[in-house]
Amino acid sequence: MSYDLIVIGTGPGGYVCAIRAAQLGLKTAVVEKTSFGGTCLNIGCIPSKALLHASELFEEAGHSFAKMGIGVPAPKLDLPTMLKFKQDAIDGNVKGVDFLFKKNKIDAFIGTGRITAPGKVEVKGNDGKTQTLETKNIVIATGSDVAKLRGIEIDEKRIVSSTGALSLDKVPEHLLVIGAGVIGLELGSVWRRIGAKVTVVEFLDGVLPGMDGEVRKQAQRLFEKQGMTFKLSSKVTGVDTSGKKLKATIEPAKGGAAETIEADIVLVSTGRVPYTENLGLKEAGVTLDERGRVTVDHHYATNVPGIYAIGDVIVGPMLAHKAEDEGVAVAEILAGQAGHVNYDVIPGVVYTMPEIAAVGKSEEDLKAAGVAYNVGKFPFTANGRAKANQQTDGFVKILADAKTDRVLGVHIIGSDAGNMIAEACVAMEFGASAEDIARTCHAHPTLPEAVKEAALAVAKRAIHM
Ligand code: FAD
Ligand code: NAI
Repeated sequence: MSYDLIVIGTGPGGYVCAIRAAQLGLKTAVVEKTSFGGTCLNIGCIPSKALLHASELFEEAGHSFAKMGIGVPAPKLDLPTMLKFKQDAIDGNVKGVDFLFKKNKIDAFIGTGRITAPGKVEVKGNDGKTQTLETKNIVIATGSDVAKLRGIEIDEKRIVSSTGALSLDKVPEHLLVIGAGVIGLELGSVWRRIGAKVTVVEFLDGVLPGMDGEVRKQAQRLFEKQGMTFKLSSKVTGVDTSGKKLKATIEPAKGGAAETIEADIVLVSTGRVPYTENLGLKEAGVTLDERGRVTVDHHYATNVPGIYAIGDVIVGPMLAHKAEDEGVAVAEILAGQAGHVNYDVIPGVVYTMPEIAAVGKSEEDLKAAGVAYNVGKFPFTANGRAKANQQTDGFVKILADAKTDRVLGVHIIGSDAGNMIAEACVAMEFGASAEDIARTCHAHPTLPEAVKEAALAVAKRAIHM
């Protein structure tokens, strides 16, 4: 059998690419070595959000129900059932991808794919048997893996990556998180809510590097209020596993006296790295950049004709929706259309409580680029719905070009920020000005009214402030 396209990897990049290619009439196959849906569905977005949802309700039941007049006994944790809830979320989504492959007549091969030559993909099944498939084009969508920390061995039992942290069979008394990025804060929140003491060690001097400075500061304050402890400008240099408790050695980032912190579980969440192991890239002559990412041009083409790459394995934010959009774009390019991703409008969301969402430039970005801008900011304390819900932490901040009023960045920290950022993405995709958002009717009483008010605030005419 010869294909128009073989996609290696069925994460959000790969499976979406395959579906779009099949929709466009390309004879398409996928190769997957573990489970359909990749990191995102199996050990990433979906299980983490299931646990975030369940643990948030657990905390609400304990803290917020009584003040709303809902009298329930103190919630009791049934961790195995919570983990089953998470597993059901995974299974349902993985089955959904299988259904979509069948619906779109995409052939799925289970095994490890290796490019033996342009147009040839060898699939080694779990039974050790191999077969070689022929194709006009190959898309590499093999995603990413956990970045290792020198001197700290992940065993996924006591020293875990996000994968182990999604499946702990007991709530740790003390969880030590290395890295105050997205994974550290999301999974740290999960285990804190259901009873762990959580300490987060971060190399830099604040949480969530890369996000807007004001949002980062507010986020840290709120996480501290919730009970997380941060040790900033610090690094973990080793973990002694010999005793009943783990003993982590922590030093100031710039060097200095070390201290020891005891913990039951250590979560290593210091980033992810592109995954290209055993893919045959070197032999095929595909070039990688200095960080091990597959090098591609604006059409996702590698230096070898007929071989393309998308998602976490190439440059850019390691996000599921970025991978998906690249999957669609490359499929359209292969079908002769003009596939395209607008990298200026890729939202990022941290699914903590409150959520933190951003799209476009931060104030720091604009200052560094010397762009003159106006800021419109609106706090949720002045939003009727947030007040009604008693969820008033956070604000919306809109950055607009000082000359043209074009929206350059939107930053939201607050309940449901992840849903609210979609409005900002649509506006920015259409090149909207702050005035456009300010003049758009928003339903009352809703949290997105704070987005409209922040847009009004750009021109210093917010109504409720
Ligand atoms: P992946 O999803 O990594 O998929 C790659 C697939 O390729 C895997 O299934 C792998 O088995 C397969 N593969 C690799 N090599 C081979 C081979 N040789 N042969 C066959 N198959 C192979 N992003 C968000 O946008 N929102 C979130 O809320 C979010 N939460 C996350 C939470 C966690 C804990 C983690 C770890 C990540 C999270 N991410 C989130 C990031 C997101 O999961 C990734 O950006 C996304 O999965 C990347 O998609 P991909 O298709 O590039 O690769
Ligand atoms: P990250 O890059 O978000 O954060 C890593 C943090 O670790 C940074 O703050 C960094 O300064 C710190 N760090 C690095 N080395 C350190 C060291 N030696 N000691 C102490 N701190 C150190 O990476 P993270 O959280 O592991 O997530 C990986 C990827 O997964 C991210 O790129 C993210 O895009 C994706 N992801 C996305 C989610 C979402 O969209 N909601 C959720 C979870 C993951």
